[in-house]
Amino acid sequence: MPGLFEEVKIGGIRLSNRSVRSATYENRCDADGKVTEEMIRFYRELARGGIGLIVTGNAMVHPWGLTAPNALGIYSDDHLPGLARLAEVIHDAGGRTVVQISHGGRQTVPDLIGGREAVAPSAVYSRAMKYTPKEMTGKEIREVIEAFVAAAERAQKAGFDGVQLHCAHGYLLSNFLSPFSNTRTDEYGGTTEKRTRIILEIYDRIRARCGKDFPILLKLNSEEGLKNGLDLEEAAGVMKLLDGKAFAAIEISGGIYETGLSTRPKIKARENEAYFLANAERLKKETKIPLILVGGIRSQERIGEILASGTVEMVSMSRPFIREPGLIQRWQEGDLTPARCISCNLCMSKVFEGPVKCYQEEKRKVQSERRDR
Ligand SMILES: Cc1cc2nc3c(=O)[nH]c(=O)nc-3n(C[C@H](O)[C@H](O)[C@H](O)COP(=O)(O)O)c2cc1C
Ligand code: SF4
Repeated sequence: MPGLFEEVKIGGIRLSNRSVRSATYENRCDADGKVTEEMIRFYRELARGGIGLIVTGNAMVHPWGLTAPNALGIYSDDHLPGLARLAEVIHDAGGRTVVQISHGGRQTVPDLIGGREAVAPSAVYSRAMKYTPKEMTGKEIREVIEAFVAAAERAQKAGFDGVQLHCAHGYLLSNFLSPFSNTRTDEYGGTTEKRTRIILEIYDRIRARCGKDFPILLKLNSEEGLKNGLDLEEAAGVMKLLDGKAFAAIEISGGIYETGLSTRPKIKARENEAYFLANAERLKKETKIPLILVGGIRSQERIGEILASGTVEMVSMSRPFIREPGLIQRWQEGDLTPARCISCNLCMSKVFEGPVKCYQEEKRKVQSERRDR
């Protein structure tokens, strides 16, 4: 069975090892979603750290789908020069990269989107946002489908190795998959097939416009942790439908803002690691598409066991790389101490305050400087 440092090919992209940097919102672009020097520096360091595949933070396919300030934009050709530079910098440092394309759905509010109403499949109140979005019209759904396709075309033009459709964590495409947030009775709601339809339409149109070889990945919720929401068996039904398409890989995650399952705190022991593994094992039964596992993976030892089980082809991490962009290189050089991230979630709770960073690492550096003085 393959280990972390064995090469792998997914959707035609050859990757030097089986690690993925899971999409992580950076808060490093300008107010129009354009790439800044700070963003370039951040990704250059990450790419030099030897990660197999870097997924960018969620890039907005539509200005009214913005979920957070200074998030990466991919909704206009004006974003192209910055995106092209970002892809080039990552490639020059030896990395491979796909853009995560996303729309906020019911997890944004008018304050973030110029006072406009947030849109979602259905007008279902969000406890997290304290807000009820507007139900999308058929025309708005068609516009959003086109926005995802145009975003994928821009990613391809900019030189990225592919795109990842964000269908997790309570953003728009996962809102469609969920029986809780999608109560529509038209062709986009009512059954698993109809709830999945928007994703399959986006996939088909990206294929038609970007060609049969363009890698399309997907990040999927395996459960929302919500009464009447998407549960594991519902996700298995979705997976069966996705299996009919040539996705390069599907990353298994879970949770929405209201349940917070995606970024569990206190990953202190091996038993706490890889908290969606059992879900991935269930979903694996429905598909031949390579799977990627995310959620609380912290040690090379656990990664070895996960890859040996054959359930997933790759393992993905977010918080560990915020603290240690060079984690993979450190392990490769023989220091096998688990990731130093203690899963305190300060990087997440304070992410609107400025560029994403590790507050524990910052504290450690200040203390060690004081000691050295
Ligand atoms: C600060 C921060 C930003 C995140 N941004 C995104 C994002 O843009 N897209 C996404 O799919 N997940 C995002 N996530 C979730 C991670 O990709 C990942 O699924 C989750 O943190 C669990 O993995 P981990 O235990 O390795 O951190 C974010 C997580 C954090 C901590
Ligand atoms: S602040 Fe640092 S230690 Fe805490 S979860 Fe984020 S990366 Fe990990």
